[in-house]
Amino acid sequence: MKKIAILTSGGDSPGMNAAVRACVKTALHHGVTPIGIKDGFDGLINGWFSPLTYDDVDNIIQLGGTILGSARSAEFRTKEGRARAIQRFQEEGIEGLIVIGGDGSFTGAHVLSQEMDLKIIGLPGTIDNDLYGTEASIGYDTALNTVIQAVDKIRDTASSHNRIFFVEVMGRDSGFIALNSAIASGAESVLIPETVTDLDALVHQIKTQNKGKRSSIIIVAEGDDEGGALDIMKKVKPHFEGYDLRTTILGHIQRGGSPTYLDRAIATRSGAKAIELLLEGKSHVMVGIKSDELVTVPLKDAIEKSAVPDIAKESLLEVLLTK
Ligand code: F6P
Repeated sequence: MKKIAILTSGGDSPGMNAAVRACVKTALHHGVTPIGIKDGFDGLINGWFSPLTYDDVDNIIQLGGTILGSARSAEFRTKEGRARAIQRFQEEGIEGLIVIGGDGSFTGAHVLSQEMDLKIIGLPGTIDNDLYGTEASIGYDTALNTVIQAVDKIRDTASSHNRIFFVEVMGRDSGFIALNSAIASGAESVLIPETVTDLDALVHQIKTQNKGKRSSIIIVAEGDDEGGALDIMKKVKPHFEGYDLRTTILGHIQRGGSPTYLDRAIATRSGAKAIELLLEGKSHVMVGIKSDELVTVPLKDAIEKSAVPDIAKESLLEVLLTK
């Protein structure tokens, strides 16, 4: 294998650059030419390819975002779009592809590999951590730390003004960020898509726990069945006469920032592994991490199955919350 392409796709996440760096350095070490594809599958269709050198990945391990760029490509979902992508790969002589992204990105690569002879390896790059087969996706740890630092700041002002805050976090349809940031930030309650939200129970919980407390923080996963933080606050507000309720939507700050040690380590180790797997002739697997060991998971499983948070942790939260 002489040429391997690397692309980042879907929502960017802190650590993607560390993964790109590891892929490039490992490829060059083995005498393979790494080809960077700009802006994900859009770049693939349009032939935005460039060979990557040691200089291109110098001093990027600490940078959030992705130097390659990312995009959600509608054209790639069409057969014509993929036919153009296939032609680009053949013209460029690319034999292997590393996709750094979430399950949507893996689906695109998988469909492409059904239509041409292409070896593909997936690296789980998403803050949502909803990928089956890995305990942590690249960017998840950094996003958690961003959220708890933000919640700590909100707690300062909430306790100064005796307020109840509803804080919305990302995660699309998963509650990993919400559940684990709630535990680590000492939130009084957390609402996640994986469990049915009972607003009456929430009102009761806030009132009973709030006795004597100067503030309450309720973390709301953006995909909760009762809606986002603003929706939840509006729904429960009638029960809180005399209380001061506020909402903060953290938004895209959860996607940025310099990756933590953990994200840099996972990204670096799995990026190097991805190149080695391709050179061993492996394909259609995702590189994950379990108990600090790298594992390979069939890409089909990563696409078709989902990871869900350990709901038992939520009961732990109940215990931690009772005064
Ligand atoms: O998948 C990562 C993610 O940040 C989700 O948590 C969020 O719902 C989505 O991307 C936001 O997408 P966009 O950046 O396109 O608005």
